[in-house]
Amino acid sequence: MHQHEPKPQPEKSLPEGVRHIVAVGAGKGGVGKSTVAVNLAVAMAADGLKVGLLDADVYGPNLPQMMGVQNHVPRMGDDGKIEPVEAHGVRLMSMGFLLEPDSPVIWRGPLLHGAMNQFLRDVRWGGLDVLVVDLPPGTGDVQLSIAQIVPLTGALIVTTPQSIALSDVMKAAAMFRKLEVPIFGVVENMGDFICPHCRMTSRVFSHGAAKTLSEKYGVPLLGDIPLDPAVCSAGEDGQPLCVAHPESAPARALRGVARAVAARLAVPIAKRQGG
Ligand SMILES: Nc1ncnc2c1ncn2[C@@H]1O[C@H](COP(=O)(O)OP(=O)(O)OP(=O)(O)O)[C@@H](O)[C@H]1O
Ligand SMILES: [Mg+2]
Repeated sequence: MHQHEPKPQPEKSLPEGVRHIVAVGAGKGGVGKSTVAVNLAVAMAADGLKVGLLDADVYGPNLPQMMGVQNHVPRMGDDGKIEPVEAHGVRLMSMGFLLEPDSPVIWRGPLLHGAMNQFLRDVRWGGLDVLVVDLPPGTGDVQLSIAQIVPLTGALIVTTPQSIALSDVMKAAAMFRKLEVPIFGVVENMGDFICPHCRMTSRVFSHGAAKTLSEKYGVPLLGDIPLDPAVCSAGEDGQPLCVAHPESAPARALRGVARAVAARLAVPIAKRQGG
């Protein structure tokens, strides 16, 4: 082939029966991507959507624990397809189910690409309105592989408000733009602190990162999730906050994000209960 001719790209297609894929990403680690992904998934499932959740963080797969199914092992069907594990009305697949606890993944790009391909093609997702993908931090091989294998309907970017997080988050936004994935919006996490004793709210960091990002990229701010120790303990206990304390302030904000996403997916209203 002539060196200037573009390489042929393999056809992207959705996994069988899956209508939409939404990625949750961020440039930075530890900002709350997994927390948002898990609560987004369970909140949409509670609204009557058929939801899958793919833990694409092969380096630190913690969704099985956050969904309370860390001791489960996915079954393999007669046809060689892997059955996702059902938790809180959501079908979950994670590298965490397949690895010994504490064993690290030290993989190069092609192996990661193969793993993503298997997660997307060899898992029996079944009929899903939406598959939520929890991405690892950064802008690396996993993100690129997923965007090459399947069409993504959209992406959410999670950020904390400190300006230190900002340049990383801009990188994540630029990556989605480059991969031609529409950015549904920004979720600001841990800007306000809810005191566990008196339940008063205090602003810990100045507002800024999410607003700047949303202005620069013209994407809406979909939610402002307060810092609440209950979010952390819910994750550790395997009961996402939207399940454990659905009326708490962070759960209400997370449900708002879920409804904004469902609206962007144009899932028929009749399928959704109560909203
Ligand atoms: N709003 C919140 N209030 C309190 N704790 C939170 C909140 N959001 C996230 N956390 C906690 O912060 C920690 C990091 O969150 P999480 O694992 O969701 O981040 P992440 O961006 O997925 O991290 P990583 O980059 O390691 O994948 C977890 O212990 C989680 O329970
Ligand atoms: Mg995570």
